[in-house]
Amino acid sequence: MTRAIVLHETGGPETLRWEAIEVGEPGAGELRIRHTAIGVNFHDTYVRSGSYRTLTLPGIPGVEAAGVVERVGPGVSGFAPGDRISYINEKYGGYAEARLLPARLALRIPDGITDEAAAALTVKGLTACMLLRQVHAVRPGERVLVHAAAGAMGQLLVRWAKHLGATIIATVGSAAKARIARQCGADQVILYREENFVARVAQLTGGEGVHVAYDGVGADTFLGSLECLRLRGTLVNFGQVSGPVAPFPVSRLAARSNTLVRPLLFHYIRERAELEAMAGETFAAIGQGVIRATVGLRLPLDRAGEAHVALESRATSGAVVLVP
Ligand SMILES: NC(=O)c1ccc[n+]([C@@H]2O[C@H](COP(=O)([O-])OP(=O)(O)OC[C@H]3O[C@@H](n4cnc5c(N)ncnc54)[C@H](OP(=O)(O)O)[C@@H]3O)[C@@H](O)[C@H]2O)c1
Repeated sequence: MTRAIVLHETGGPETLRWEAIEVGEPGAGELRIRHTAIGVNFHDTYVRSGSYRTLTLPGIPGVEAAGVVERVGPGVSGFAPGDRISYINEKYGGYAEARLLPARLALRIPDGITDEAAAALTVKGLTACMLLRQVHAVRPGERVLVHAAAGAMGQLLVRWAKHLGATIIATVGSAAKARIARQCGADQVILYREENFVARVAQLTGGEGVHVAYDGVGADTFLGSLECLRLRGTLVNFGQVSGPVAPFPVSRLAARSNTLVRPLLFHYIRERAELEAMAGETFAAIGQGVIRATVGLRLPLDRAGEAHVALESRATSGAVVLVP
């Protein structure tokens, strides 16, 4: 019997129910995967709560996982039973012991990267790659603001931006998280629940502001992040853990000729060549020690609801992984 977390209606963590499912045989172009580690993303909480209506209900949430190929469907080349793979699937289905997966989404996990690291780093590592290398290509000497820097995304952004030669100003919610951000390479850390981060950034940059602000917090920080930008600086709003950003007048960007970007990873990996290129760069960054998987919370898959509670209550640092 195969089991999975099934969402029947949106709501609180109790809506994530542990049930038996049918997986079946892989069809043309598909693989049957037995999951070994499943990555939890903030996106999953938006889907569960109904803030995003992108999963058809009843449905199995979860956009990333790592696992082993069990069976290969007709017409698939390049994969065989026993291969270790990870994937990103915007059509969901990750919170399951096993699944069918289009082979075009599968990424071979390089030797030296564990399944757990792959589950922690496929969505988030590729997102960091997208944000730092494509959305705004960070250059040596740039000043970079990273919010929630001890979070899963935050740690990756700090480590990778530091490697690219930037000076990092990080915000975090507690002293313990400040220590983590510093260990990742942050030059300055602001406790943004206690201090006005806009005033501190102005002070730390001699009134100049930052070249780029990476803001996955959304509602609570968005306008402040905009105020932290230098002339022609860029605000990258890549998430909304504190709620969606309210509409704002575009004319505010004119005050300092600023750029605003709101990127989604799924749109940067539509083509297999794009996916492979970004995965290649991300796996190489892992291999070289530029970024690493820091798993702050590991829970059995049937306790996915607890993982959501921890993530939403700001109790985690690093990645959250479910083990089938
Ligand atoms: N655009 C994309 O394609 C893409 C892809 C992947 C992830 N993301 C985004 O990246 C962001 C980070 O995701 P993650 O999975 O790595 O989560 P995370 O950063 O590990 O966890 C969220 C952190 O945000 C901070 N936070 C501030 N206000 C909060 C609030 N009201 N509720 C909860 N947390 C709050 C907390 O850190 P402090 O205690 O330090 O404040 C918390 O630990 C999310 O917005 C996610 O949607 C976007």
